Amino acid sequence: MIRRDFLKNVGLIAAGVAITDPFAMAAEMIGASPADDAAEIFTPDGKIRVGIRDLKPSTNKQVTAIVIGAGDRGGTYARYAKRFPEHLKIVGVSDIQEHRRHRMGDAHDIPQEHRLGHYNEVFEHPKFADVVIISTPDDRHFEPCMKALAMGYDVLLEKPVAQTEKECRAILKQAKKYNRIVAVCHVLRYAPYFVALKKVVESGAIGELVSVQHMEPIRYEHMAHSYVRGKWRDSEATTPIILAKSCHDLDIIRWIINKPCTSIAADGSLHLFKKENAPAGAPLRCTDGCPHEADCPYCAMDIYIKRKAHLGVFDLKNKKDDAEILEKLKTTDFGRCVYHCDNNQPDHYVAGMTFEGGKTASFTMDAFTPWGGRRTRIMGTMGFIEGDAKSFTLWDFKTRTPKTWFMEVEEVAEYKGAGHGGGDFALVRDFVEAIALQDVNKLSSSLDDSIESHVMGFAAEKSRKSMKKVKVQM
Ligand SMILES: NC(=O)c1ccc[n+]([C@@H]2O[C@H](COP(=O)([O-])OP(=O)(O)OC[C@H]3O[C@@H](n4cnc5c(N)ncnc54)[C@H](O)[C@@H]3O)[C@@H](O)[C@H]2O)c1
Repeated sequence: MIRRDFLKNVGLIAAGVAITDPFAMAAEMIGASPADDAAEIFTPDGKIRVGIRDLKPSTNKQVTAIVIGAGDRGGTYARYAKRFPEHLKIVGVSDIQEHRRHRMGDAHDIPQEHRLGHYNEVFEHPKFADVVIISTPDDRHFEPCMKALAMGYDVLLEKPVAQTEKECRAILKQAKKYNRIVAVCHVLRYAPYFVALKKVVESGAIGELVSVQHMEPIRYEHMAHSYVRGKWRDSEATTPIILAKSCHDLDIIRWIINKPCTSIAADGSLHLFKKENAPAGAPLRCTDGCPHEADCPYCAMDIYIKRKAHLGVFDLKNKKDDAEILEKLKTTDFGRCVYHCDNNQPDHYVAGMTFEGGKTASFTMDAFTPWGGRRTRIMGTMGFIEGDAKSFTLWDFKTRTPKTWFMEVEEVAEYKGAGHGGGDFALVRDFVEAIALQDVNKLSSSLDDSIESHVMGFAAEKSRKSMKKVKVQM
């Protein structure tokens, strides 16, 4: 129920009752039921508490899984099985890197015959688990997903779903054909911060939502690591950055607005990280005696050796061993000068979107920020919300009294340190429940929803390249 309808229902607008916080007071006067979201979530001390669930599934069945791609993300999801072994068991692993499949094999006591190489080997065996977790690189999602569905596996699929709109739609068709569940790892939807944001908007506390401003600050050195030197530097080999990095954001915008997107106009380019911007005398690698080492914020030695950031990609024996890191910088892409990489992803991107009913959203993705953490403003007819991925504040136009949400208010300590603000593990919890009960409604996002926000991403990229506004159609 939106706030205005709510007030009308209890007769306060018509009666012109003098009240300080009309919504809270109205709720009180009618003896608000537990089902009344707004009455439940605003505490008298100016805090917002939506009631975040803990991370344990509410089912009894143990779900068995095969991890395809035992890298960073595969490892993250598998760690859930260590935390809740009675709910999730990793019974197979596939990775083309031998040391990675044995690392996961040893951690989860996976029998030797189920420690497999290329994902094709998984599908040469008769089905031996309930689900597969697909956490291979972007260009290796489509094929294993199609095969897994055909063999009757349910799938936890890393984003982006696939590299093209056509492949995304083919996966949707395949899931329907074999009647299987596919959960896409849009982890932000499961993060307590975004769960709370969505609940407050749904409560009607800002009236009718009219527009959203959303920013994804990548952080300068994260940009250099992942989208200039790293795995996602080439939009053709992986996916355009609007999907590779920002499909989460398009999904969150679509989810919060809760209406289909009808058109997108986007722009953006690669401004800095190219040859012509290299300072004089910069060598191809930071390790080759660069005269700008002391001043360059993108210097690999500074990022990886001095600050010990982003070391996960190296599979180091000892993260404190500077000589071992230096050797990696001399021999891998991560030691390359940011001005001499074969990268093509834009470092700044803007998109304007229109949704059914004329609602609008603007999105910006920026490399040049000192911090990460999405910034969001939500404009409604009765109020306004502003947040920074850690906390958000709601301003009610009538009372002008701010109310704030932050994690500590929820008293769920176990989310501390969980990736993506807790979204990584909460996603697995809901996935395990959905599989155990064979109920797709346990997921925050259906595959149809995930594909829809991917279609928005492909439309944005089409618009950026054609310099034309593009219609979005499902
Ligand atoms: N949901 C999120 O927030 C999020 C965050 C980061 C990355 N991702 C996505 O997750 C995916 C994995 O990213 P990552 O950072 O874990 O990468 P990663 O490189 O750490 O792991 C990928 C693993 O897949 C293995 N692999 C490659 N080809 C294979 C094949 N044919 N068969 C079996 N294994 C194979 C690699 O050896 C590697 O160990 C990517 O698509 C990425 O875009 C999602």
